[in-house]
Amino acid sequence: MLRRLHSEQPDSFAFTPDNQKWAEAQVTKYPEGRQASAVIPLLWRAQEQEGWVSKPAIEYIADMLGMAYIRVLEVASFYFMFQLQPTGSVAHVQICGTTSCMICGAEDLIAVCKEKIAEKPFTLSADGKYTWEEVECLGSCTNAPMAQIGKDYFEDLTTESFTKILDDLAAGKPVVPGPQNGRYAAEPKSGLTSLTEYDSGKTQYNASAQLAVDLGDSVKRIQGDEVPILTPWIGKDGVVAGRAAEGQPPKAPEAAKPAAKQAAEAKPAPKKAPAKKAPAKKAEAAEPVAEAAPETLKAARGGQADDLKLLKGVGPKLEQTLNELGFFHFDQIAKWTEAEVAWVDSRLKFKGRIERDGWIAQAAQLASGEETEFAKKAKEDGRYED
Ligand code: FES
Repeated sequence: MLRRLHSEQPDSFAFTPDNQKWAEAQVTKYPEGRQASAVIPLLWRAQEQEGWVSKPAIEYIADMLGMAYIRVLEVASFYFMFQLQPTGSVAHVQICGTTSCMICGAEDLIAVCKEKIAEKPFTLSADGKYTWEEVECLGSCTNAPMAQIGKDYFEDLTTESFTKILDDLAAGKPVVPGPQNGRYAAEPKSGLTSLTEYDSGKTQYNASAQLAVDLGDSVKRIQGDEVPILTPWIGKDGVVAGRAAEGQPPKAPEAAKPAAKQAAEAKPAPKKAPAKKAPAKKAEAAEPVAEAAPETLKAARGGQADDLKLLKGVGPKLEQTLNELGFFHFDQIAKWTEAEVAWVDSRLKFKGRIERDGWIAQAAQLASGEETEFAKKAKEDGRYED
């Protein structure tokens, strides 16, 4: 299938402040110089936020990770999980059309999609609420036929139950994911015949279905204010384990918490009313720094600009922005004062990266003729050569 950017694109993209914080924390999972490894989680979060991956989102993430745009586009266009066109405001419906599901009625479900959503996949329904596509096996073959809607599996579907789910979702009514024929998970419909002694601690529904019911949200289930729960090596003090010892500055966001605490806060108790969304942790108010314009140049000295992409965190687009602002050389950046950093920062798309990525220290090193680890690696890889 041809996967390319959609013909119509929004003007811009930005993570919400909470998603930005989350995304920056993801980057800390990877070693210095390997920030590009965060590209998939960041693209995924962009898709969760917007419903699809737009060109501005790809560029934003590329800038954030210091990657060339084409590298991020390659990832986004390679993996089918990334939607490159607008999806329904309520849900993008994925019907499994592989063997078990096909034998058990996937074609009937696709007929419902064609009738209720659009004749062709990846096409918005008339009310803009749905899109659909046929996908390969989603690993729920025992409960065929099935569909993934948002983050949940709806299993043991019939034309009637699937139609009702779509209607209920469109009407904003809560729906219960999981098997729709009354069985528990993938157990026999007539009940267990063995291992029955392990049956006592069950919740009403299994795993993700129970979570969806507890949260009262069976489709989106993204609040945007989640703190990363996969970074247990970030200590309470915000220091990434192992980095302080190497003399590297802490990179963790203020919101990072120990994983156990986050899990305890995030995990709702089973069989209770939907958990109330915890208020987002407010960032401590920072003293605003007065801005002062740094000295700028109209053009590069001698017509030969430094390759600013050798600074970690500066991609082609940011380099262009810096050039437009009048910065062409490492020694210019190395001289920025705190007030001048504030001035430049306020003119960049996402603030705080000068400090976060340590541009001034990097620029000072490069201006003096020394290499930084990042610049060395970038040159070896040929990633930033014009
Ligand atoms: S064949 Fe449909 S989930 Fe495996």
